Amino acid sequence: MRHAQMAPHSPPSSLPHPHGIRGVEANPLCPDLPIFDLGVYLAGPPACQPLCEALAACLHTASAVVVRDPRVDEGASEAFLDLMEAYFDQPREAKLPDVRPDLAYQVGATPDGTERPRCLADSAILRRAEAELGEADRPTPPQGPDSKWRFFWRLGERPAQTRFQEWGRVMDRWGTGLLATIACVAEAAARGWRLPPDAFTARMALGPHLLAPTGVDLGRAPREGDVYAGYHYDLNFLTAHGAARYPGLHAWLRCGRRVAVRIPRGCLLLQAGKQMEWLTGGHVRAGFHEVVCTRGTLEAAQRAQREGRPLWRVSSTVFSQIGSDCLLRPLGPFATEAACAAYPDTLCGEQVKAELAAINLSGTSAQD
Ligand SMILES: [Fe+2]
Repeated sequence: MRHAQMAPHSPPSSLPHPHGIRGVEANPLCPDLPIFDLGVYLAGPPACQPLCEALAACLHTASAVVVRDPRVDEGASEAFLDLMEAYFDQPREAKLPDVRPDLAYQVGATPDGTERPRCLADSAILRRAEAELGEADRPTPPQGPDSKWRFFWRLGERPAQTRFQEWGRVMDRWGTGLLATIACVAEAAARGWRLPPDAFTARMALGPHLLAPTGVDLGRAPREGDVYAGYHYDLNFLTAHGAARYPGLHAWLRCGRRVAVRIPRGCLLLQAGKQMEWLTGGHVRAGFHEVVCTRGTLEAAQRAQREGRPLWRVSSTVFSQIGSDCLLRPLGPFATEAACAAYPDTLCGEQVKAELAAINLSGTSAQD
């Protein structure tokens, strides 16, 4: 499976700017990622083919889309970030009972210094970035495992005991909202490629979706250039994020250009993961990204300190997954001979297991 992990970068090209299409707006904070208004899509999908095609094209060129979903409540995002800042701000010993290496950390907390960036597990990734990307577009080379904490919350479940009484309500409210947005984008993209509208969503049914916020402790003398999450792609189908309170996310476009991602208030970012790449035979690539400390991160931390807020950078991330028993293979027009050779039939649960081993979250290492 390892030969299919990274398709070569294509030569630099500029992104289309599909403004003028109903439901597509310019993003003043990040011109490479226009905003798709899912309210327009939800009001009448059959009349939204240009929007669907523009959204699908954006996934192809940027491995990501920014959307505004009228059903997602800004208050849920704020309550979620407040809760996770308070959780991560506890002493280390208070969080350690939530760490479950026996379950490959897929529920509960993952401490800092555990997850190994994908580019350290497979040195060809950094070698290729070094050889093919311009100097300004190169990732920050990680020196070791990520310094971020993470908490995995299986959507729909709650722990038997918790001192955070509001935990289940706040987590499920935010997580299920993001999952609904992901389903909407998956359906719109399927229509954009003229696949059956449920081509992706039917395969997502009963998938082990995870609400997976990360926490980076900015109270520990942060320095510009610190790597919080090293250059990697996501192993799942589509990842959704609300706006973080601290900048620092860089994402790579298909053409190899690095973009400092900024999401306008009330909007969400969706990034394509490896399962999306598999199902589209590489037409959409799992987008590489990193989280590093920038000048903007430091300025936001100084503001938080002045306001007496916890100094934790929390990401509000949902990993949507294809069902574990589902076969990953290029769909419909993406099933060319070359794509089927590069992305051989693989049970989704097996793909997840192999990726977890490569990033040091399961008991076995893919390097062994
Ligand atoms: Fe990621």
